[in-house]
Amino acid sequence: MNNGIIKLAPSILSADFAHLGQQIAEAERAGADRIYIDVMDGHFVPNISLGVPIVASLRRVTRLPLEIHLMISDPDLFLDEFTEVGSDAFLVHWEGNNNLHRTLQRVKGLGKRVSVVINPATPAAVLEEILRDVDQVVVMTVNPGFGHQPFIHTTLPKIRCVRQMIDEIRPGCDLEVDGGIDATTAPLVVSVGANVLVAGSAIFSEGDGVVAAMQRLRAAAHQALT
Ligand code: DX5
Repeated sequence: MNNGIIKLAPSILSADFAHLGQQIAEAERAGADRIYIDVMDGHFVPNISLGVPIVASLRRVTRLPLEIHLMISDPDLFLDEFTEVGSDAFLVHWEGNNNLHRTLQRVKGLGKRVSVVINPATPAAVLEEILRDVDQVVVMTVNPGFGHQPFIHTTLPKIRCVRQMIDEIRPGCDLEVDGGIDATTAPLVVSVGANVLVAGSAIFSEGDGVVAAMQRLRAAAHQALT
């Protein structure tokens, strides 16, 4: 059951990197819950984004939690460095990590919030063994690696299933969705149990600015709660 509070996590992948500090300040003013940062290595996903130096710079311009989505082949190699520059939370994929339990324990050992991420082709059932160890589950609603992709509607029943698993096994755990979230898809994911919405292009690529875009997204999401 959704506790009625919908959190927005602007994904800076779609932001204007030439004005990143200003765009994050606008998102913070518009009530962003956290800042979502996609780290890609060109191996785990077919794209390269950003690394530790950018996170260090962002730490200086916002007090919002910095949530690091690690789309990299070996997340364990970089946890310490991202922690040293002020990251607050790590999102680690189930896919491709043979020692996921160990990685999750390491993140918790660093005192950071830990999430497991599952891709569109990965069933909710894989969460059974590790759900008790996480603060949040992230259901990818696009294939990871790029912004501006269309929402994959076949992920909706899985989000509902993950919500049921969380309510049974790990009440209070956040359910975050990432990819293709906008004013049309936001009420759909909230209606099946998501409570944290990641959005990139729907926040940073709209013509009327970050504040108006976030107000629109928040209003659409809350429609599903009434
Ligand atoms: C994709 C990233 C997303 C992406 C979302 O791999 O994880 O965070 O930036 O962008 P939109 O909201 O444009 O789909």
